[in-house]
Amino acid sequence: MALWGGRFSQEADQQFKQFNDSLRFDYRLAEQDIVGSVAWSKALVTVGVLTSEEQQKLELALNTLLDEVRTNPEAILQSDAEDIHSWVEGQLIAKVGDLGKKLHTGRSRNDQVATDLKLWCKEQIAVIRQALTELQQALVITAENNQDAVMPGYTHLQRAQPVTFAHWCLAYAEMLTRDESRLQDTLKRLDVSPLGCGALAGTAYDIDREQLASWLGFASATRNSLDSVSDRDHVMELLSNASISMIHLSRFAEDLIFFNSGEADFVELSDRVTSGSSLMPQKKNPDALELIRGKCGRVQGALAGMMVTLKGLPLAYNKDMQEDKEGLFDALDTWRICLHMAALVLDGIQIKRDRCWEAAKQGYANATELADYLVAKGVPFREAHHIVGEAVIAAIKKDKALEELSLTELQKFSETISIDVYDILSLQSCLDKRLAKGGVAQKQVTLAIAEAKQRLHLS
Ligand code: ARG
Repeated sequence: MALWGGRFSQEADQQFKQFNDSLRFDYRLAEQDIVGSVAWSKALVTVGVLTSEEQQKLELALNTLLDEVRTNPEAILQSDAEDIHSWVEGQLIAKVGDLGKKLHTGRSRNDQVATDLKLWCKEQIAVIRQALTELQQALVITAENNQDAVMPGYTHLQRAQPVTFAHWCLAYAEMLTRDESRLQDTLKRLDVSPLGCGALAGTAYDIDREQLASWLGFASATRNSLDSVSDRDHVMELLSNASISMIHLSRFAEDLIFFNSGEADFVELSDRVTSGSSLMPQKKNPDALELIRGKCGRVQGALAGMMVTLKGLPLAYNKDMQEDKEGLFDALDTWRICLHMAALVLDGIQIKRDRCWEAAKQGYANATELADYLVAKGVPFREAHHIVGEAVIAAIKKDKALEELSLTELQKFSETISIDVYDILSLQSCLDKRLAKGGVAQKQVTLAIAEAKQRLHLS
């Protein structure tokens, strides 16, 4: 029998029941629902609905249930209860009889589900922050081990200027730092308890909602009951945080897929994160990275889905809002798994230093250096840019690098060029000159690694 059976004389259609029930996915809120129920039972003592003995009995039964749920959460799925809130109440009644029927006094599933989901989100934020930290640590360690691995940096996927593999790793560490700060920020707004808002207008029992909030570990209680049961901003924010971070991960994956390609051949991925082809024996495919890139789609989809579900929804609770869970659960699971997988990819990666160095030398990555050299000798930058462009065309025709042109050849483009030009055309000099904050010079990269290690408690 459903929780609301009294008002009905006909059974629900089986197809409707399947359509309406949420237990098959909201069973994941079991622990939060039980913890919330214990806190609510304590609040009911303060307003005289329960005696202390009754409350203790309920708390004991709820804690037993909590143990059972922790050992075997999926056992819940055997039940045909409508949702996790009905299931917990049903189990409680089975354990303590009629006393269990008192627990729902002054409470609605609307404030209950809002509370449960917020408690779940808070736990997930902690789990994902840990995964973000671990991936940042992996990036910083990989950076530390590859400070001398010079490779081409790209714009428009054209070789632009030399960078190091370390500098590339640290770029992704920065993105993840922002992802983490977005989570911290989301937590601040999420950390208010809706419990005690009833169905929509507030509870008719004079409960100290601030005390109730603190029992559940919330920073405070919400201010407006209508808003509290209708608010799913935290779901949209978390999905948006996940979407942005997954975009970072998919760019990370795409960069590495390219670095691992036969065309670039800068890195070798470990056998532990690649798979073979059933037909072509020579192949080693970057599946882990391709899946990270691919899974980005479903997370963006969950965000778009949630936004559209909430758009134009009247206050307060509507069953539409039950659609908040599957997308959120899937998106956060996906995000967490992809963070772990990205760290695993870094764990066994080999950087092919010689190949990277050769590639960095090709592609006229030092053309800017030649222009800067001319500028230092008094040539205006626009003019210098033009001169170097001509020199590059000539070098391409001869199939040579700029530094392979003789002095006489170079001087055809500008008489100001002298023998000292060869020093500045070296890859090392290109790197060394980028000494300003955030640049690729060894000194800056070492500093960035040291700072990151301290922030991530690696040293
Ligand atoms: N299963 C519901 C959900 O996930 C719980 C809230 C039900 N509230 C209601 N008024 N029917 O949203």
